[in-house]
Amino acid sequence: MDQTPAGANASSPAGTYQTVAIERDERIAWVTLNRPEKRNAMSPTMNREMLEVLEELEIDDSVGVVVLTGAGDSFTAGMDLKEYFRETDQASAVEKTRIRRAAGEWQWRKLRFYPKPTIAMVNGWCFGGAFTPLIACDLAIAADEATFGLSEINWGIIPAGNVTRALAEVMHHKAALYYIMTGEPFGGQIAVQTGLVNESVPLEKLRERTRALAKTLLAKNPTVLRQAKNTFKRIGVMDWDLAEDYLSAKAEQTAAQDPEKGRNKGMAQFLDEKSIRPGLQGYRRDA
Ligand code: COA
Repeated sequence: MDQTPAGANASSPAGTYQTVAIERDERIAWVTLNRPEKRNAMSPTMNREMLEVLEELEIDDSVGVVVLTGAGDSFTAGMDLKEYFRETDQASAVEKTRIRRAAGEWQWRKLRFYPKPTIAMVNGWCFGGAFTPLIACDLAIAADEATFGLSEINWGIIPAGNVTRALAEVMHHKAALYYIMTGEPFGGQIAVQTGLVNESVPLEKLRERTRALAKTLLAKNPTVLRQAKNTFKRIGVMDWDLAEDYLSAKAEQTAAQDPEKGRNKGMAQFLDEKSIRPGLQGYRRDA
């Protein structure tokens, strides 16, 4: 099941990471959780490093899309039962809170409203805490052969660390309860049917399909893309009146912030030049 991107062992120019590898390739940053000997379980060190990685890539103009994946045969086996749980059991309440907050900082606070498009590429094992960054990414492509599981019940805890909150956002209600309550593993195709990922493809096609999706996103106006995805994620808690007002304000902000003035170009190419039909294709950004 090896889908480790070529160069995944290279460290990034700006930082050297023990537990994460970054490969930059055609404006795509392939971010690989890199503890394959521990199935990429998320340790306190990895949590600290992932926040640094995301902060580094956020301001890196050479990167337009971030793909999150795992080294070897695992996406991530979830939180590290030894380093994150057992070894911190005796820590003070304040210290425990700090360690948990560091996980949430990247797994959903940073990722959920990341300014660049994010794709989770689920290449293998995906358990427990893995669901939080998976769902926080904008889009997700899985391998048919990947194995997902809400395994918490199997070792006597509830899916915390915001896993349950994340599930409530995307997974069909009865399916989420079924897998929370049974801990039964499932594959990529079930992940699609239950709303957890966008698509599932054979493992051998996973990177190719993810790259194609990343390229589609790279061709779009990045300012509009950022505003469109982040407004979608925020409006769920608003009533319709509030959402309408918020979206009008955001639409004006988007036009004001857009250096390429996409709205004007799109309208001119459709209405004046009649050179595109926006229902069927995007405007020419270089025009
Ligand atoms: N936390 C800490 N260590 C983990 C881990 C986790 N979540 N998942 C795997 N590891 C470690 C194992 O302890 C083992 O370490 P060791 O070599 O020092 O003994 C190593 O990774 C390999 O694990 P192993 O179980 O031998 O690999 P496998 O390929 O046979 O099985 C899994 C892979 C993912 C099915 C299995 O490791 C597993 O069930 N992990 C726990 C998943 C889980 O419940 N996560 C939820 C956490 S909230």
